[in-house]
Amino acid sequence: MNIVFYARGEDFSDWLPSITEVLPGADCRLWSEAEAPDWQADYALVWQPPQMLFERHTQLKGIINLGAGVDKLLALPGLPEDVPVLKLRDAGMATWMTDYIRYGLLHFSRDFDAYQRQQRRSVWQPENIDARTDWPVGILGMGAIGSEVARRLSDDGYTVRGWSRTEKQVAGVESYAGEEALSAFLQRTRVLVNLLPSSQHTQGLVNGKVLEQLLPNAVVINVGRGEVVDSPALIDALRKQRLRGAMLDVFEYEPLSQDSPLWSMDNVIITPHIAAPTSIRDAIEQAKEYIHAIGLGLPVKAVDRTLGY
Ligand code: GLV
Repeated sequence: MNIVFYARGEDFSDWLPSITEVLPGADCRLWSEAEAPDWQADYALVWQPPQMLFERHTQLKGIINLGAGVDKLLALPGLPEDVPVLKLRDAGMATWMTDYIRYGLLHFSRDFDAYQRQQRRSVWQPENIDARTDWPVGILGMGAIGSEVARRLSDDGYTVRGWSRTEKQVAGVESYAGEEALSAFLQRTRVLVNLLPSSQHTQGLVNGKVLEQLLPNAVVINVGRGEVVDSPALIDALRKQRLRGAMLDVFEYEPLSQDSPLWSMDNVIITPHIAAPTSIRDAIEQAKEYIHAIGLGLPVKAVDRTLGY
């Protein structure tokens, strides 16, 4: 079995030995324009690969995306239409994601934002502590990661609601499905967590109208994709203190531009797309399962290219 590997921005030397270990016997090669022309891969293990990889490898049986979001991959005009695209589903990311979101929740709900401002002015002023139930969490996007995050936050004692295209059953979590349920969901949400992928259906979904419907003193945590949130509307709501704050890990253009006003807003926490890194080991184990299933002709859950996940 031949595997072509490419992961933009990653240290390849971390990946290649693990691939060889988990998939012994596979001839795994790093993508390069200078590959032997007669060498054809059966599978592509890729993160944000160049278009040329698919022009060169024309006999692929599966394209495995080494991350949860497939937006960059699906945007490639030369992506072969007849080859299943498979993506990582959780693969260890839900744990990192939950930690990240817990940090944001605690930062605002336990008034660390206020204490930071007080510290700068040498002010000693204790605030009352709210109950966790005063901070209802609404999760946009209840896929593998969203559902697991929702379950864990509910176990922590928060009131958690999830919004997704179709109804989802997660113990302790109230499910809202479809456009018609969005307003009811927003009106009960104080911490809006975006875990939606970027697609034609989700881009700009979190706009001014959506932000207006959140409970007073709301917080936005964006860990899905930057394109889902309308940045000018978010900045406006933060400036007017219609929102208490935001914690942002993803942006429409990354790195976030030097002149973005978000950098200097004291109610905003910015991180450089680190909320849930891909675990190499988990990713390759999942790739192995996909390859195994395809090899046996078993059904695999391929990405729906129209939905974008
Ligand atoms: C990270 O952003 C991913 O999509 O896995």
